[in-house]
Amino acid sequence: MTRGSFISFEGGEGAGKSTQIRRLADRLQSAGHDIVLTREPGGSPGAETIRDLLVNGEADRWSPVTETLLMYAARRDHLERVIRPALDRGAVVLCDRFSDSTRAYQGAGGDAPAALIAALEDHVLGDSIPDLTLIFDLPPAVGLARAAARGGAARFESKGLEFHERLRAGFMAIAQGEPKRCALIDANATPDQVSEAVWTVVSTRLAL
Ligand SMILES: Nc1ncnc2c1ncn2[C@@H]1O[C@H](COP(=O)(O)OP(=O)(O)OP(=O)(O)O)[C@@H](O)[C@H]1O
Ligand SMILES: [Mg+2]
Repeated sequence: MTRGSFISFEGGEGAGKSTQIRRLADRLQSAGHDIVLTREPGGSPGAETIRDLLVNGEADRWSPVTETLLMYAARRDHLERVIRPALDRGAVVLCDRFSDSTRAYQGAGGDAPAALIAALEDHVLGDSIPDLTLIFDLPPAVGLARAAARGGAARFESKGLEFHERLRAGFMAIAQGEPKRCALIDANATPDQVSEAVWTVVSTRLAL
């Protein structure tokens, strides 16, 4: 079966994921690839409705387990309606956050059990796992300052520095635990330097 490529962009707030995903999309599109640029939570009409529940409101609006279930409801809709059809037709899917954000935010950052998250990955994702995951790493204070300067919705940004340190450690553990799928990107650099690092990883790991 012809199958496209699935690349996820992960990391804490203000790490530069959205900036770099657009740059990679432009570069791959110029090279003639069919690109689907999407994001989580959200990415399909139903999942965007669930996103509104997740990203707005008070920091403690949902418990980590409730958040995990909402995230996975949204993720399933996104997979069924956007990601899997795109991969089936051979597109390159670039996703701004995916399942590792649940492991990091609700698992490492919150108290959602790793076994619950693993079971959801198993049953809800099946084999729809990214071929490559770029994990953008930088000190949380730097990322939060960037995100604050940018402005916008901020339910997770308001959770405090200690939460964001746990997130960073969570993402780091994912990168170390699954080195074949994941690549750690030093995001504490200029946008052009980060783009080069992204391109080096994408072009060496994937046969696009
Ligand atoms: N390498 C960089 N150096 C300095 N500033 C940057 C860099 N990359 C992005 N920025 C700026 O930092 C802000 C956050 O970047 P961006 O939105 O790409 O991060 P993000 O990882 O998508 O954040 P979030 O998780 O909050 O969506 C933006 O204003 C962006 O222009
Ligand atoms: Mg973003």
